Amino acid sequence: MEIRIRKAGIEDLEAFVDIYKSAYRNMQEYAYRKERNIKYYFKWLLRRDREGIFVAEIDGKPAGFVACDAMWHSFFDEDVGEIHEIVVAREYRGKGIGKKLMEAAENYLKSRGHKKIELWVGERNYAAKKFYEKLGYTAGEKVGRWIRMVKEI
Ligand SMILES: CC(C)(COP(=O)(O)OP(=O)(O)OC[C@H]1O[C@@H](n2cnc3c(N)ncnc32)[C@H](O)[C@@H]1OP(=O)(O)O)[C@@H](O)C(=O)NCCC(=O)NCCS
Repeated sequence: MEIRIRKAGIEDLEAFVDIYKSAYRNMQEYAYRKERNIKYYFKWLLRRDREGIFVAEIDGKPAGFVACDAMWHSFFDEDVGEIHEIVVAREYRGKGIGKKLMEAAENYLKSRGHKKIELWVGERNYAAKKFYEKLGYTAGEKVGRWIRMVKEI
């Protein structure tokens, strides 16, 4: 199984929609459900940071995405490297794809001068929380049903 990470663009819209739906199938309370909204979301992510979206391909087939933002100003009034989204298709979970995508995201944000990375996770998204903790993220403030996690790089 060969995992290849490359930059994503608007041509990956349909693949993003499929993988997003697959990733959030059992976690819909934190996700967009309507296809129209998922498409709009992908376009918003691209507008936020055109260089910051990466796709993982397995033998040439998209299996996961990560979306970063090198120009994000956080809720807590600091400039941080933000990770807005990470999704891995259900059938490809547990194979190290998420970890590879996070490495690509961290390298990208580091290359843009960031020393601190921020992301938000749904309070009941225990799997993602464990995943981030494994990768060195620490849970902090809670805003509504979202928990802020940060990592110094
Ligand atoms: C979270 C997600 C991206 C993880 O992707 P993945 O490709 O399965 O993760 P990996 O295989 O790279 O796992 C990396 C590490 O995290 C750990 N991990 C992953 N999922 C885990 C889980 N459910 N419970 C405990 N640990 C987990 C792995 O054991 C692995 O540790 P290791 O390196 O010591 O073996 C994926 O489950 C997903 O798409 N979830 C739905 C969408 C979502 O919740 N996104 C986050 C929104 S904030």
